Amino acid sequence: MSTKEISVTAKVAFFSTQAYDKVFFEKHNIDFGYKLEFFDTQLNEQTAKLIQDTDVVCVFVNDVVNESVIKKLAKKNVKIIALRCAGFNNVDLEAAKRFGIKVCRVPAYSPEAVAEHAIAMILTLNRKTHKAYNRVREQNFSLNGLLGFDLRGKTVGIIGTGNIGKAFAKIVKGFGCNILAYDIVTDSEMEKDGVTFVSLETIFKESEIISLHCPLNEQTKHIINKKSIALMKDRVMIINTSRGGLIETASAIEGLKEGKIGYLGIDVYEQEEKLFFRDLSADIIQDDAIQRLMSFPNVLVTAHQAFFTNEALTQIALVTFGNIQVLLENKEIENKAAILI
Ligand code: NAI
Repeated sequence: MSTKEISVTAKVAFFSTQAYDKVFFEKHNIDFGYKLEFFDTQLNEQTAKLIQDTDVVCVFVNDVVNESVIKKLAKKNVKIIALRCAGFNNVDLEAAKRFGIKVCRVPAYSPEAVAEHAIAMILTLNRKTHKAYNRVREQNFSLNGLLGFDLRGKTVGIIGTGNIGKAFAKIVKGFGCNILAYDIVTDSEMEKDGVTFVSLETIFKESEIISLHCPLNEQTKHIINKKSIALMKDRVMIINTSRGGLIETASAIEGLKEGKIGYLGIDVYEQEEKLFFRDLSADIIQDDAIQRLMSFPNVLVTAHQAFFTNEALTQIALVTFGNIQVLLENKEIENKAAILI
């Protein structure tokens, strides 16, 4: 069988499938012709047994792809783990390498989608449009409690100036904010655009708004903790559209109770895999920390929806299938950041 034939008949099994995944991947498979199989369930040690005659396993942010799962995938002859997201903190890359499984991801499907959602969170928390919406529906036209602040002239600290951090900086510049940034790599183009690269400590001390756009790894885990919160300005606004593990939840709750944190917008949450992407409206939530967070009037929680635009889902489907094709056919890839192993 030629490599071309393998790629044409390859089977791709999707885990954590939502209705919209099926719509976008089926639509864009027309140009690729893979056999698609969709599982609603998350991939983990128990569900790995569902995989039969599958070349590619396509996973999302909360699927469990640790050593034990990878071992099971290797036994089933899976050749590729295709992440349909940018972050890959949930995949044991070392183990995948050892078991000879290739891993790819979608490095930048629409950085603007995530950056724009971070802005939506800032504007909502600041101008309290979520409260105003409910208020006027009750014919309450009072403004008490809705007081906001001008963004113009405020200092915004960005942690992580990759694709999303850059897109976010461009929008924030339009609001007339002073922009500070921290990254392990200084971006000279951004410096030319008026962004000042500073130490992490300076970000914490000088920003009125802090937006997280770095990946979750050993260095960044709990980057927002008791110590860093103590350094921040009183009534700081913290926005996290990156990964839940960047914020130590207990410290954030303490900071909110003390009034040190004035506003918290989170699209991601440390324990989100047990909650997000499902309708639990009839369930008793056992996670007390998320319940406490949602009880604060100055906390906005969205359920990992920052990526969720038409443009982003189209790109995700096209890039994921493109990655799979390149790996199956052993082709040279232009987008090097897409291939992790
Ligand atoms: P990217 O790879 O383009 O940029 C990440 C940046 O973080 C790089 O500039 C890198 O140098 C920097 N960085 C790495 N380690 C750091 C450290 N220790 N301290 C400070 N900066 C550090 O990634 P991109 O596309 O901008 O995405 C960022 C994150 O956003 C992803 O890792 C992912 O977790 C999250 N994300 C969230 C989505 C959502 O729907 N909420 C959707 C897409 C991504």
